[in-house]
Amino acid sequence: MIKIAILGLGTVGTGVVKVVEANTVPIQHKLGQPLSVKTALVRKLRADPYQHLMTENFREIEHDGEIRVVVETIGGVEAAYEYTRRCLMAGKHVVTANKQLVAEHGCELLELARKNHVNYLFEASVGGGIPVLHPLTQCMAANRVDEIYGILNGTTNFILTKMVKEGASFAEVLKLAQEKGYAEADPTADVEGIDAGRKICILADLAFGHQVDPAQVPMEGITGIDLKDVEIAGRHGYRIKLLGRCLRLEGGRRTAYVAPHLISEENPMSDVNDVFNAVVVRGNATGEVMFYGKGAGELPTASACVADVIECLQEERHRPEIGWSADTGGFASPLTLKN
Ligand code: HSE
Repeated sequence: MIKIAILGLGTVGTGVVKVVEANTVPIQHKLGQPLSVKTALVRKLRADPYQHLMTENFREIEHDGEIRVVVETIGGVEAAYEYTRRCLMAGKHVVTANKQLVAEHGCELLELARKNHVNYLFEASVGGGIPVLHPLTQCMAANRVDEIYGILNGTTNFILTKMVKEGASFAEVLKLAQEKGYAEADPTADVEGIDAGRKICILADLAFGHQVDPAQVPMEGITGIDLKDVEIAGRHGYRIKLLGRCLRLEGGRRTAYVAPHLISEENPMSDVNDVFNAVVVRGNATGEVMFYGKGAGELPTASACVADVIECLQEERHRPEIGWSADTGGFASPLTLKN
């Protein structure tokens, strides 16, 4: 029996327990042994179907030699950063859905993992259940990636879709997105474009091999969009979609931003609705490749976390290299670009 632990038992953490329990047979088939969640770190013990897994004491996980992989779903940076570092230094693989931590400290944490001969994997941090980081870094490894763009936030796409289809107000749909577990604990990050911004930074880091500082990336969300804007766009054959984009510029520089766009109804991106995300990667050999699926929610995001757990365990002796250097490699913020 292989044992794992989860840090944080919110929407995604609970989803990880459910996926591990529901899919014991296919998971065991891949690992040759059963997988089980031994412990889950919570801030405060509570009555819950998974109460038997809970602890308030991180050291119980840190010093438990039986736990080989830790799934970090706390979110945010402070505690998540410290615990991730300590787990890696304790020789445990860490997988995460935490885009803020990866966008701000991913390069450093990958280096720490490398030094400790373990993995730090974060497929769930971009696109929820859509496999996009592995295809980008592995299946498209023979390409020079020139551009990535897409709908990277499920909550805002859900809000915009309901505004178009049901004429619903921004505030009422946001509440529904929170109830469905799509939105962040503080949904400001969703509606202000910050969550999509963190995701485009991670994609740019991996595509271009250099770290992009999220503070250098202009991020505009959808709080300035109302029903009237949506209706006018529709009358002229357009949908409003929040896109993140990073691209290679002439002279080897790169840039990135997040902003609402008018998308023609003839463009397949206009038909990406509800909580679905779509990411287009343009490689110089492949041309455009599109990834599509549920970009948020308990089980899709947990599926990506558990897949990373399986990969860590399968590849314990062969760690894949993720090319990502701490230098900024000619990043040009659109805030400073002329013409
Ligand atoms: N709040 C995020 C979203 C969750 O709505 O896309 C998935 O990263």
